[in-house]
Amino acid sequence: MQIISDIKKTSSLCQKWRDKGESISFVPTMGCLHAGHLSLIKKAQSLADHVVVSIFVNPLQFDNADDLLKYPVTLDEDTLKLADFNVDLVFTPKANAFYPDGENQVKQIDLGSITVLLEGAQRPGHFAGVATVVKHLFEIIRPNVAVFGEKDFQQLMVIKQLVETFPLDVEIIGMPTFREQDGLAMSSRNLRLSENERKKAPAIYQQLKSIKSAINASTNIDTADFVELERRACENLTAVGFVPDYVAIRETDTLSIPENHNNSLVILVAVKLGQIRLIDNIRV
Ligand code: PAF
Repeated sequence: MQIISDIKKTSSLCQKWRDKGESISFVPTMGCLHAGHLSLIKKAQSLADHVVVSIFVNPLQFDNADDLLKYPVTLDEDTLKLADFNVDLVFTPKANAFYPDGENQVKQIDLGSITVLLEGAQRPGHFAGVATVVKHLFEIIRPNVAVFGEKDFQQLMVIKQLVETFPLDVEIIGMPTFREQDGLAMSSRNLRLSENERKKAPAIYQQLKSIKSAINASTNIDTADFVELERRACENLTAVGFVPDYVAIRETDTLSIPENHNNSLVILVAVKLGQIRLIDNIRV
């Protein structure tokens, strides 16, 4: 396994593989790797000759300086885990090489309406930062395929929109959310929960499951019923100490507000628990 932070060296190693007709799959990460990331890497291994994992805490996608500062960085543990997984290349760029003129000078990508709803409304500029870094990573590595987790459901939609908008020629694969035994979606942020918060956190998934059951049990459900289900879930989460940003029942393909249950739906949630912001979703 090679660990390279230099952009040119990374790009030329990937080019060497491509010249030999060998394919590349790519898993972009911000490090602090957990079993969810490792499941993406396993999938990536089944899809191509070489697996590249990037570890880069991208400053552009943080709308809150404190959140960026506190984002867990565990590079040594991460590279040990990746070596166990036979990853070919770990790309660990430095922010000043990635954004040589400074983050504020970077021209960010605007992918329109999908980036301003839900997470985009709560975290202005977040998806522009994600799209900008992922496009840059794709241009350096030029993978055949890239694997992302469905836990960041809207992010996955943004990435799909990115590759439709620009000629990046990469297939995007989404993988189901990996959960702890008690249902909490795996996230690097879980590490920052206190013991008490960690005990409360599975309530998020319980609320998602209970909305899903209510939708599946109704024969004639409409927008007003969806709004009532969202309201009740927010109330339940608030009662046990969460501060909900949103609980939203949406059409899976567009994230628009559904009028009925004719199309497939997704329920998305974002809450704060103490200082930590958690997101999750479930499909109906
Ligand atoms: O999902 C993440 O970890 C990040 O948003 C990503 C895709 C690596 C871009 O920085």
